Amino acid sequence: MSQAPQRIVACPIADLPPGAVTRVESGGRSACVANVDGTVYAIDDHCLHKQASLAEGRLEGDTIVCPSHWWRYSLVDGSLCGGSASLASYPTEVIDGEVVVVLPPAVQVRGIRDMLLAHARGED
Ligand code: FES
Repeated sequence: MSQAPQRIVACPIADLPPGAVTRVESGGRSACVANVDGTVYAIDDHCLHKQASLAEGRLEGDTIVCPSHWWRYSLVDGSLCGGSASLASYPTEVIDGEVVVVLPPAVQVRGIRDMLLAHARGED
């Protein structure tokens, strides 16, 4: 069973001027949303090191610096600077003055009983 991505209104674009960063969350997912010279980017909000919120970090150009131990991520594609790992990046758009972030469907946590029943029904 697949679910559609979630289109989440982050804030009015007037509240996210160039150089500003905010956080949006829905359904157990969260994104760090930043305005870089008029282009809005969104990547996963949780640092790969120890899960600090990147939305609380410092914006340097198109890079966000983690507030805890200064790991750096490209806002363009979520890649860890100097590393091979990467955070998810999410599409954004501005609709009627509102910043919209498209988050993937929330992960459904199922118990073993539900998984076995779904398998027995041929639903997986
Ligand atoms: S939690 Fe981000 S660098 Fe450590």
